[in-house]
Amino acid sequence: MTDTPDPVVHAVVPSAGRGTRFLPITKSIPKEMLPIVDRPSIEYIVREATDAGIEDVLFVTRAGKTSIEDYFDAEGDLEAELERAGKTGALETIREYLGYARVHSVRQGKPLGLGHAILQAKRHVGDAPFVVMLPDDLMEPGSRLVSKMIQVRRALGGSVVALLKVTPEQATAYASTSVEFLDIPEGVDLEDGELVRITDVVEKPPIDQVKSEYAVIGRYLLDPAVFEALEQIEPGAGGEYQLTDGYARMIDRDPADGGGLYGVVVNERRFDTGDKLGYLEANVSLALADPRLGPALRDYLRAELQD
Ligand code: G1P
Repeated sequence: MTDTPDPVVHAVVPSAGRGTRFLPITKSIPKEMLPIVDRPSIEYIVREATDAGIEDVLFVTRAGKTSIEDYFDAEGDLEAELERAGKTGALETIREYLGYARVHSVRQGKPLGLGHAILQAKRHVGDAPFVVMLPDDLMEPGSRLVSKMIQVRRALGGSVVALLKVTPEQATAYASTSVEFLDIPEGVDLEDGELVRITDVVEKPPIDQVKSEYAVIGRYLLDPAVFEALEQIEPGAGGEYQLTDGYARMIDRDPADGGGLYGVVVNERRFDTGDKLGYLEANVSLALADPRLGPALRDYLRAELQD
């Protein structure tokens, strides 16, 4: 067992994409601010991070995305108005961000890929393990996935990614991995989830080069050695600096030097909100789970489907 007591307090959330799949709305609204039921999708990410013990979230953004930072800030005039009107419920709602991890932001500068985006966090994160959360992957609220990944790093060291079982056709849109199953170390509770060592990983392979049914989704717990690796990679799939090519270098790196790459197989619900259908599914599922909206929505959907 590796002794890695460093607490994991940083999360990096790449948010510099143009959101082209959601045009035209993303002409003027960042994709991360599109609502899932009544909250911008980015709030679910920050809440998930907070629940896992993360204290500091760094958004890697671009021009036109300042509404993300505004959302996690005080609204003096509105607060005073609500206070005067005695609207305490609304006041509490707009102050909920105070209970979340503290947010910061840095600009990516040039759209050179996810690996390049993560490298912009180097100075802020420093020499500490950190979580990367891709906002297009929405975990069901209450998910313990990141906490499980932190437990695995505490037990084994190295870096840990989240894996989803997919079909070969789907695998071509993800990082595809070769894996070896591991026994769950003592003190690690994956709640019936599986743990693997990753022995190979390739970004968005053609279908005949898919490694297995295990694809990487957007939750990573990375050793800071990944920054050094990201500084060395060349442009990869799509001509971009790929995060995958950075953490792939952890596979052969000495464990004493931050090496080792593990995977936690996701056994919780996850939505791909970067896709229109996945976005609608997330809205419907989370609204159905909401006690205020669920019953009426269920009746509406039943009636609608009968036509
Ligand atoms: C990114 C990563 C890919 C990963 C995927 C998970 O791809 O590059 O390795 O499997 O997220 O959602 P994107 O979906 O941004 O193209």
